[in-house]
Amino acid sequence: MPSETRCRFTVAQRMRGVNPFRVMTVLERAKDLESQGRHIVHLEVGEPDFVTAAPILEAGRTALAQGHTSYTPAAGLPQLRERIAAFYRSDYDVDIAPQRIFVTPGASGGLSLLAQLLLNPGDGVLMSDPGYPCNRNYVRLAGGEAQLVEVGADTRYQVTPELLERHRTERTRGVWIASPGNPTGTVLDIAGLQGLSAWTDRHNLHLLVDEIYHGLDYTEGLPTALQVSDDALVVNSFSKYFGMTGWRLGWFVVPEPLVAASNILAQNLFIAASTVAQYAALRAFDLDTREILEERRVAFAQRRDFLTGVLQELGFAVPVATEGAFYIYAGIDKFGDDSEYFCHALLEHFGVAVTPGTDFGDFENRRHVRFAFTTSMEQLQVAADRLRVAVNSGRLRR
Ligand SMILES: Cc1ncc(COP(=O)(O)O)c(C=O)c1O
Repeated sequence: MPSETRCRFTVAQRMRGVNPFRVMTVLERAKDLESQGRHIVHLEVGEPDFVTAAPILEAGRTALAQGHTSYTPAAGLPQLRERIAAFYRSDYDVDIAPQRIFVTPGASGGLSLLAQLLLNPGDGVLMSDPGYPCNRNYVRLAGGEAQLVEVGADTRYQVTPELLERHRTERTRGVWIASPGNPTGTVLDIAGLQGLSAWTDRHNLHLLVDEIYHGLDYTEGLPTALQVSDDALVVNSFSKYFGMTGWRLGWFVVPEPLVAASNILAQNLFIAASTVAQYAALRAFDLDTREILEERRVAFAQRRDFLTGVLQELGFAVPVATEGAFYIYAGIDKFGDDSEYFCHALLEHFGVAVTPGTDFGDFENRRHVRFAFTTSMEQLQVAADRLRVAVNSGRLRR
């Protein structure tokens, strides 16, 4: 008899602590209820409700018709890297050599690659709590440790040099931040970025800035970290502002000394990003497409204003305005003390799907939920009516 009793299908230890994305559980349950004939307002989903803009769709169809179905270079189509470099020039007035730009399968592909590229076992990465949950897992899967920094409304849910200083250990290798952030929708202005860049320079740490919600911002002239530092690692995506979530396409920019290793890792991890998506994305920066995207940005801004007003009027705590992305991170103290129960009850009894704070970290995670205004004004109005009934029902508290 073999003494080995380990199940053949036991997953690796590094999977321990990789939590499911709770928003997906909410979405599944919402779909379930819909299949039973219930009407659900979706305020949980973190993707634009608009179909990809027509010029991009057309470019994708043309690419297929022309037979562009083979691999591209690992770093991406040269003309797309040029186009992204031109975008940094036109929109941010920064010169980035196209060689420093890598096209990836979504920002997710870039984040995961960068974690593998930079971290040794035991290395620490400082990041905000609450924050985008997958980052913790990219770091963990690369053998590193997410060093969570609790952030609140007092710092507009962003890390500051003072907070980082308090959490830094000798294992710290870098800082990962997002501007605009998910789930809080707050941004870093140029002074904020400069402060963080100076702090990471002083301690010789990497500064990785996730800018995937850039373009979907409601402030003037949101800066990229590349405006303040050539050493910042910047991740971006065609998913959100460019409305291409399902095409799975993003990019990152690295400093020159990391170019060769990034290329080797891209070759090994995914060979290349989707070819048809890359050809389609060549049209993403053109004026006619940008006009469509701008109209959508304005629509998101109107939704933000409407939903923020409704939530504040009902008694949710929204101490910091959403400055970017399509999320409102709201305090639920007035209605309950368990965000998971709150979300469960809101969905089951009132047909409104939102995401519990427990998806985004540990800090005050039972006291907050995330509303995504990724649905039409008509649906938001229905949500507002249902929320009004819900908060007065007493049924959102266990
Ligand atoms: C902050 C943040 N970074 C990265 C991603 C991943 O995006 P992509 O679709 O480009 O992989 C998301 C997706 O929601 C996100 O919110």
